[in-house]
Amino acid sequence: MRILAITVLALLWLGLLSVAQTNNCIVCHSEIRVEYLESAHAPAGVTCVDCHGGDPATLDYRAAHAGSSTPSRAQIPQLCASCHADPVRMKPYGLRTDQYAEYQTSGHGKAFAAGDLNAALCTDCHTSHRVMSRFEPRSSVHPENLAQTCARCHADSELMKPYELSTDIVDNFRQGVHGTALQQGNPRAPTCATCHGLHGSTLLQPEDIVTVCGTCHIAERQYFDKSVHRSKTHSAEFKGCAACHGDHRILSVQSDLFDTACASCHRADTGALTLAERLKTLLVASQQALHEAQTVLDQAEAMAFDVSGYWSRLHEAQTNLLQARTAQHTLDEAQLAELARRAHAIANDIRSEAHSLQTAVQIRWLGLTLVWGYLLLVLIVVYLYRQERRRAREL
Ligand code: HEC
Ligand code: HEC
Ligand code: HEC
Ligand code: HEC
Ligand code: HEC
Ligand code: HEC
Ligand code: HEC
Ligand code: HEC
Ligand code: HEC
Repeated sequence: MRILAITVLALLWLGLLSVAQTNNCIVCHSEIRVEYLESAHAPAGVTCVDCHGGDPATLDYRAAHAGSSTPSRAQIPQLCASCHADPVRMKPYGLRTDQYAEYQTSGHGKAFAAGDLNAALCTDCHTSHRVMSRFEPRSSVHPENLAQTCARCHADSELMKPYELSTDIVDNFRQGVHGTALQQGNPRAPTCATCHGLHGSTLLQPEDIVTVCGTCHIAERQYFDKSVHRSKTHSAEFKGCAACHGDHRILSVQSDLFDTACASCHRADTGALTLAERLKTLLVASQQALHEAQTVLDQAEAMAFDVSGYWSRLHEAQTNLLQARTAQHTLDEAQLAELARRAHAIANDIRSEAHSLQTAVQIRWLGLTLVWGYLLLVLIVVYLYRQERRRAREL
């Protein structure tokens, strides 16, 4: 065991020495060495001098730093792009080369081009020395860590003041369904970059919001496209899906969204709000019926009845209700009513059948109890009769 440990240590030391032989920078810059050796750049042979210049062969302070410099913020995008926008250099690694081009189209890139050094640069999202692949769980751009990376600036009210951008975005996102799902490790949930673009970080126009949400919520989008609101997304007044669900603090949906969302734009006593009330009632009533059917089935099962055949029908009713919840995005009352009615009808059937099943069995129990009671009575009578006979004989 000890020999193994010594061998491993010796090998590590030799490995370090061999890197150090060609790259003396990391001998003196020990904190940066730790970050650098974890990065994707180290194994690819991208070294300190590629970004800083200087002479890595010497341990002499002066000679080592001859011609070296720390890149200024203004130089960073160009520096990274000198490799990452070069198809020949990137080809062996199978990496795309459009990050810099996309970056230039983003809100950040445009602000940077206009001389604003507060805007996010490559190193603000990727770090300078601990640059890791997005698949590495500790990477600053891994989906689970990205919100934190953006928060460094977007939750900083001092920094954001001149731009009039809200600073509760990241908190809101974390409280919403998507942020929660990400924290629970759901890889299908969107991160900041899914909606705003990887390197294109831009604001979303109302039309784009429908498209972006629709890449995952396909059915909702198709139904929404048929609604009266669809044409309203051509203007800024109706922010697509976000008009009702919000943008970052999107919550798990309850039917009271009909009260809160619709009333934020439509005045009371208008056709729109009465329609909202009717749609809500349909959904809530079906939901209630399903709930009751489930309760009856649970009770029956607890009483050891065989209700296995009913679960699949309950499931069918649930599917209808789910479809109804999605289809209400058309605001087409007839279509919703049909789906809700089906769910409701199945639930009612289940409930009454489970009830009659219970009643039938209860009657059977009653019959059985009567028969046993009668038999018991006969036995008692026979017993008493024999007792009587024995006493008579003894006398
Ligand atoms: C003999 C030890 C030693 C070696 C070898 C060395 N450095 Fe340094 N370096 C220092 C010290 C000490 C400083 C100044 C304190 C600091 O910033 O850490 C410094 C500063 C720097 C700075 C910041 C300087 C500035 O003002 O912009 C950079 C960048 C840098 N070194 C890069 C390198 C690179 C690249 C190499 C290898 C080619 C290298 N160093 C090799 C010791 C060394
Ligand atoms: C991919 C490019 C890149 C590589 C590789 C790189 N650096 Fe840097 N380094 C930067 C950038 C950009 C900055 C300035 C931004 C900052 O301070 O983070 C910087 C800053 C520095 C600084 C001054 C700021 C500080 O953090 O103290 C030192 C010293 C330094 N680097 C040393 C090194 C050493 C030593 C290596 C090799 C182990 C190295 N760098 C590898 C890009 C790089
Ligand atoms: C000298 C060329 C060079 C420079 C300069 C350079 N890189 Fe790289 N970078 C590479 C190479 C080569 C890889 C491929 C590593 C791999 O995939 O194994 C890489 C990998 C990466 C990765 C990981 C990609 C992935 O998902 O696997 C990121 C992120 C990255 N670089 C960002 C940057 C940033 C940010 C800068 C500027 C601070 C920068 N690079 C500067 C050559 C360079
Ligand atoms: C606002 C934050 C942000 C900025 C600024 C940024 N990136 Fe990225 N970058 C990301 C995110 C997030 C990912 C991971 C994407 C994913 O999860 O697929 C990424 C991925 C990458 C990758 C690897 C994936 C790929 O596209 O093949 C490279 C290389 C890269 N970025 C380079 C750069 C360079 C170069 C710059 C500067 C011109 C830059 N990035 C600026 C956030 C940023
Ligand atoms: C270094 C600080 C910094 C970081 C890190 C940062 N941003 Fe920004 N961001 C800014 C600043 C500053 C602006 C305002 C630029 C402007 O509009 O002039 C901005 C603007 C934006 C905008 C609005 C763009 C527009 O068109 O007006 C979006 C969207 C955005 N950022 C998303 C992100 C996302 C997503 C991340 C993380 C992946 C991120 N930012 C990381 C500083 C940052
Ligand atoms: C599910 C999609 C989605 C996700 C995920 C998302 N956003 Fe947004 N974001 C939006 C929508 C929609 C808007 C509203 C667009 C508008 O107001 O024009 C918005 C607006 C913004 C704005 C402008 C806010 C303002 O005050 O005008 C910024 C900055 C921003 N998001 C950053 C982020 C950051 C940082 C994250 C990650 C923590 C993130 N977004 C995650 C969809 C998303
Ligand atoms: C990358 C895919 C993706 C994108 C883009 C996306 N979502 Fe989601 N969304 C999900 C996932 C996955 C869940 C399920 C989270 C969970 O339940 O754990 C979800 C959940 C929801 C829920 C809760 C559903 C419920 O049953 O209560 C709503 C509402 C929602 N998203 C609306 C939106 C809106 C609005 C947008 C655009 C601004 C959007 N989503 C963009 C993947 C996405
Ligand atoms: C006019 C308001 C409004 C708009 C616009 C809207 N929704 Fe909804 N959405 C609702 C209401 C109300 C519910 C709740 C229905 C219920 O009672 O279950 C809901 C439910 C949902 C659900 C959960 C139920 C389900 O379908 O599984 C998701 C996911 C969802 N919406 C996504 C979206 C997406 C994506 C868009 C854009 C294409 C969008 N919504 C546009 C009002 C809206
Ligand atoms: C962001 C604002 C907004 C929200 C939220 C919103 N609407 Fe609308 N709605 C509009 C606009 C704008 C029109 C078009 C009005 C016109 O053309 O006169 C409209 C039109 C309608 C119409 C057809 C015209 C009418 O007034 O009868 C109905 C029905 C309607 N909405 C129902 C709803 C319902 C139900 C909800 C909630 C689920 C809802 N709306 C949420 C903005 C909104």
